[in-house]
Amino acid sequence: MRMVVKVAGALLERDEDVRVLARQIAELARAGHELLVVHGGGKIFSNTLARMGIGSRFVNGLRITDRETRDAAVMVFAGLLNKKLSGAISLAGQPAVGISAADAACFLAEPMQLDDFEALGFVGYLTEVNVDFLRSLWREGIVPVASCMGLGADGELYNINADHLAAAAAEFIRAERLIFLTDVAGVLDDGKVLRAVRGTEIEDLIRRNKVSGGMVLKLEAAKRALAGGVAEVRIVGGTQPRALLAAGGGIRSPGTRVLPLIRTSPKAAHGAAQ
Ligand SMILES: Nc1ncnc2c1ncn2[C@@H]1O[C@H](COP(=O)(O)OP(=O)(O)OP(=O)(O)O)[C@@H](O)[C@H]1O
Ligand SMILES: [Mg+2]
Repeated sequence: MRMVVKVAGALLERDEDVRVLARQIAELARAGHELLVVHGGGKIFSNTLARMGIGSRFVNGLRITDRETRDAAVMVFAGLLNKKLSGAISLAGQPAVGISAADAACFLAEPMQLDDFEALGFVGYLTEVNVDFLRSLWREGIVPVASCMGLGADGELYNINADHLAAAAAEFIRAERLIFLTDVAGVLDDGKVLRAVRGTEIEDLIRRNKVSGGMVLKLEAAKRALAGGVAEVRIVGGTQPRALLAAGGGIRSPGTRVLPLIRTSPKAAHGAAQ
């Protein structure tokens, strides 16, 4: 099965978390699944920026990215974190290759414009994936590990929110499953993990301030992936033991399943027509 696995930046902070995840990714790949791993940057990136004396500013959950911030993003995302994860998967027994947008022009992007014309800088959205390149890696049993960037037609690298990238890439590569591994146990409502969230409930959760920050972007990305043909989307705690294997294997998965807007079974469609 073709799957996109999105790994939160927070899960790359502790070496033990990285090792536990890497082992599960290697096991899924060994079982014959075609995996695209996408990772974020989280606190590690914010801390690096702070160390460099660069401030962080967000609009609608998206980081305003000037040239200096972008250059640091390339160093942290495509450098340190990307190599940390691809190295751990390779050491877990399955060869993994860290890729970023520029490599074989694997992820193309266009600059993102916000309605209120607030300049986001080098923030983009995904417009194309070099699927042939990914296929050539899968054929050799190699796991591609992608940092959250896109290559613009102007030759510049653009920062892409990792959830946006994972969801859009899942659509482009026609993945059957998209798994978001995050630093919480799933989508929480008053501290309790919701087993399932239907697309129609997402707006309501946001309006009632039940979800905020990065979780809003994640749910919107999940909704988009479902609308784009990805059959199954899950949001799972990445530190729970064997959580990825359960989610990847589709068995008694922990966390939250995001369900499509409308039921697609013929029975439900018939019901809706009445
Ligand atoms: N209802 C909610 N349930 C769960 N998490 C929530 C909720 N509302 C807000 N959040 C926040 O969303 C965060 C997850 O999004 P965040 O963007 O921080 O991480 P990520 O997307 O998994 O990783 P990265 O941004 O590094 O790619 C949680 O850590 C939590 O603080
Ligand atoms: Mg996020």
